[in-house]
Order: sequence, then C-alpha cells, then structure tokens
Amino acid sequence: MRARMLGHAPEELTRGRLRRLGEGIGKVVYASPHWVVKRERSPSEILALIAIWKMARRLEKILPGRLGRNLLQHPSRQLRFLRVVMQGVVRVIPQSVWYSTHAGEMWRVYRHRDERGERLAKEYLAGSDLMPEQVGFPPVRVEIGGWPGWLNVSEATERVEATLHQRLVQLAGAGRFEEVELWLERLLDLRKRGWRRGVFSVDAHLKNFGVTGERVVLLDAGGLSDDWAEIERRLAAEERVDKPHVALGLEAVLRERPDIAARFNARWRATVNRDEVGRHLSAAQDSASN
Ligand SMILES: Nc1ncnc2c1ncn2[C@@H]1O[C@H](COP(=O)(O)OP(=O)(O)O)[C@@H](O)[C@H]1O
Ligand SMILES: [Mg+2]
Repeated sequence: MRARMLGHAPEELTRGRLRRLGEGIGKVVYASPHWVVKRERSPSEILALIAIWKMARRLEKILPGRLGRNLLQHPSRQLRFLRVVMQGVVRVIPQSVWYSTHAGEMWRVYRHRDERGERLAKEYLAGSDLMPEQVGFPPVRVEIGGWPGWLNVSEATERVEATLHQRLVQLAGAGRFEEVELWLERLLDLRKRGWRRGVFSVDAHLKNFGVTGERVVLLDAGGLSDDWAEIERRLAAEERVDKPHVALGLEAVLRERPDIAARFNARWRATVNRDEVGRHLSAAQDSASN
C-alpha cells in the first residue's frame, strides 16, 4: 500500500457527483472513473446494520430461502430505509446498554479489526502491489449521490474493475469457467504473498478482494492479523469446513462444475491450513530479522 502525496486531489473527484459503488458493514464507497473515496459509517449506523443483519439471520431460519436471504444478499432501497428506522432505535438506547449486547460486541470486533488492519497494511504491505494504490492530498469537498450529499476527503484509492465476487459471478454466467478457475488460483497466490510478508486476513471473503488487470488485490485491510494465536484459532475452524467453496459463497457459481469445485477445494485445503500458513509466516519473520 503506497500512500503517494499529491499536490491536489485528482481532478475527476471534483468534476461531478460521485456514484455509490459499494458498501460494507463499516464503509460506503463512492467512485469516479479511476478513484474511489470512502465514507466511514457512524457507530449508530453500524450498530443498526448489525441489528438488521441479526434479525435477517433469524428470519432466514424461519423462512428458509426467501425473505431472510434476500435481505442479507441484496441490500436494497427497503433495506436502507429499514436501516434508517433502526438507527433511530439505536440512538434512543443508551450506549452503555448497546455495549453489553451481542451487536455491541460485534461492533467492537469490527472496529478493532478495521483499525488494526489499517495499521498492519501500512507496516507490512507498504510498497507492495497487494493492495490498490492510495493517494493523499489536501482536503477537498466532493459531491456524492445520496445522503449526506457531500464528503470531505483527503485520500483516495485506485478503483478496481470489480470485486472478485462480481467477476466470478459474471464469468460463470458467461460459461467462462477456465477463467473462474484462474482467478481462484490468483486469489490463493495473493494470499500466500501476504503471508510471506507477515500478515494473514481473518476476514477473507470475496467482496474484500478486487480485480485489476491480471491481478487480485486486497480491498479491505480490516481483518489483517499478525497475531499467530488468533490466526491459528481461525485456521483450526477453517480446517473443519467441509466445502471451502460453499463457505466462500461459490456454491451457485460452481454448481455446473463440480470438477472445478473439487479441484479448488483440494487446493484450498492444501494451502489455507496451519502448517502452510505457519511456514510462510515464519519465512517472513526470518527475512525481517536478517
Ligand atoms: N478500490 C476499490 N475499487 C472498487 N470498489 C471498492 C474499492 N474498495 C472498496 N470497494 C467496494 O466497497 C465495498 C466496501 O469496502 P470495504 O473497504 O470492504 O469496507 P468495509 O470495511 O465496510 O467492509 C467493497 O466490498 C467493494 O465492493
Ligand atoms: Mg469489507
């Protein structure tokens, strides 16, 4: 992650209204043709989303395969409305109460991982091409589609062509399964290169990776860890997963191609395990202490 300082913001950021491009639990991302800027959600917004997500999970169990899943997978206008309503609820409940709930706990975990990830990305990934390029500049006001209409920003990130998840869905839809397999291989490759630098992502889902040219890059530093005890616990849990491709949300993408799913799962198991990750991470330590 290279934070190049510019004398002024890229012109395209201030030329027109920026479109909402993507969102996660903690950030909303707006795009110009080559750059994105991020808005950090407020604590009440994040808590509201977590509360909705928990309700949707419960609904999913009651209404298998329908409303619950739709709520989780298609953040729609209705969902945004629900979030605003829920945010009102969050605001009238004292913070000390929220803190003690499970949603409050999840919020603390998110915030902790996000801050730590940013720090680790600077420490371990600076100067690499594992993440999109970042630039800094004197603060400017940019216009954005939707609430709150504008943002003050002093950094931007290189826009990728698509998230890895979007790319895989597209390619599978077009029947281009050889490329699906190639991108999955590139994902494993990128992860290994991260381990060799000394970091492991405990939040490695396909919307946190992007594709640009022939590269997979990590979009979301949140979730990076260099704490072996934590990484080991995480891997122990992952090693028990029966079908990694299903856990990654690739069940539909690979439904027609059980052969690719089987090859991928075997590759994944042979790579994302305590022995392999430990071997790469200790190679990082050796080169750091030299
Ligand atoms: N550089 C980028 N180019 C294009 N889309 C991006 C970029 N960075 C993030 N996004 C989109 O925004 C979403 C949320 O960003 P992310 O950093 O993962 O925030 P969060 O911490 O809330 O998960 C991503 O899943 C992706 O869809
Ligand atoms: Mg994310």
